[in-house]
Amino acid sequence: MTRVETAAFGVYVHWPFCLSKCPYCDFNSHVRHAAIDEDRFARAFAREIETTAARVPGRQVSSIFLGGGTPSLMRPETVGAVLDAIAKHWRLDDGVEITLEANPTSVESARFAGYRAAGVNRVSLGVQALDDASLKQLGRLHSAREALDAVAIARKAFERYSFDLIYARPDQTPDKWAAELQLAIKEAAEHLSLYQLTIEEGTPFFGLYAAGKLRTPNEATARALYDVTQEVCARHGLPAYEISNHARKGAECRHNLVYWRGEEYAGIGPGAHGRLDINGTRHATATEKRPEAWLMRVEANGHGVITNDVLNSVERADEFLLMGLRLVEGIDPGRYAALAGRPLNPRRIAMLREEGAIVVDGDGRLRVTQAGFPVLDAVVADLAA
Ligand SMILES: C[S@@+](CC[C@H](N)C(=O)[O-])C[C@H]1O[C@@H](n2cnc3c(N)ncnc32)[C@H](O)[C@@H]1O
Ligand code: SF4
Repeated sequence: MTRVETAAFGVYVHWPFCLSKCPYCDFNSHVRHAAIDEDRFARAFAREIETTAARVPGRQVSSIFLGGGTPSLMRPETVGAVLDAIAKHWRLDDGVEITLEANPTSVESARFAGYRAAGVNRVSLGVQALDDASLKQLGRLHSAREALDAVAIARKAFERYSFDLIYARPDQTPDKWAAELQLAIKEAAEHLSLYQLTIEEGTPFFGLYAAGKLRTPNEATARALYDVTQEVCARHGLPAYEISNHARKGAECRHNLVYWRGEEYAGIGPGAHGRLDINGTRHATATEKRPEAWLMRVEANGHGVITNDVLNSVERADEFLLMGLRLVEGIDPGRYAALAGRPLNPRRIAMLREEGAIVVDGDGRLRVTQAGFPVLDAVVADLAA
């Protein structure tokens, strides 16, 4: 992929509500049966944006990501108000990428034109699966047909779109997955996010799994599913650029690259995380997760930040390693050394190279190999030790 070396600054905005809770999901998402006061939320978002911009003034915003939860439940006017507030307090890059995460139900895709008019130029659709039995098992509220219709509407409304699929689902075989993936690639223009199902503690899937009522593919099948993913996507011009993300050249999600390359970003809304550079130090921020409690904090104090840690050099360098090695482009070991105050251990590098888990390119960049990605956590732990 092409590396763009300008200072990037991203703004993440979290919409914490969903129509129902999917049984595998542990994101900060809540179901409310009473109507949500969107105007009140819009005012609180604008207020938190103003307060954050006062901490990190003068930034040029290269990407905005409205994530959730289900941001496609927001009225287009609410999205417009959030984008206006960002543009009022920071400058927007000419080519700013503005992504909205959407669920592919017919009600939500009917709002796409409104989001486009509000300034959104990219959508990321949570398709998850292309067969109805799997969608039902995943607790989704849409059918495969509805999802494909939403993709077609997205294609017309936005310059750029992506969709998510979850694989390594119960009973999934590499052959079935390869066929589903090929269908997905036909529908995907430039970008796909392909996540291996994770059984998250505290979710209904976790309980079912623990009780033996939900069986996921064993390690060998999971590995075969991963290999099929890489092979089919690469063959169709959508190689991985990150462990779970695939794109045509130049179509990578710029916002997510901000996280993985260790750049600066603001986190706005309930449970949002940020990384802000203030007076030469990096601050890791997190806001109150509970939506109504966040609202009250913002209304009282101008922000919902409850954690504001200054990262020390070791924490900063470890985070750089953890995030950067997820990318196929890998990391610059010189930047690690500058952050950590010491270089990576040459003996460990040599060992991991010998095992075939990493390579060091001609230009000195260190990156994880295709064989190393399935054991990425162990590789990172080894290098960071
Ligand atoms: C913030 S979520 C959701 C976006 C949107 N609300 C939706 O569900 O369509 C982003 C993505 O994370 C993925 N995801 C969530 N929980 C997961 C899990 N337990 N295992 C694998 N992928 C997961 C799904 O693909 C989902 O689309
Ligand atoms: S997967 Fe998406 S729709 Fe489902 S609960 Fe999580 S955030 Fe909400």
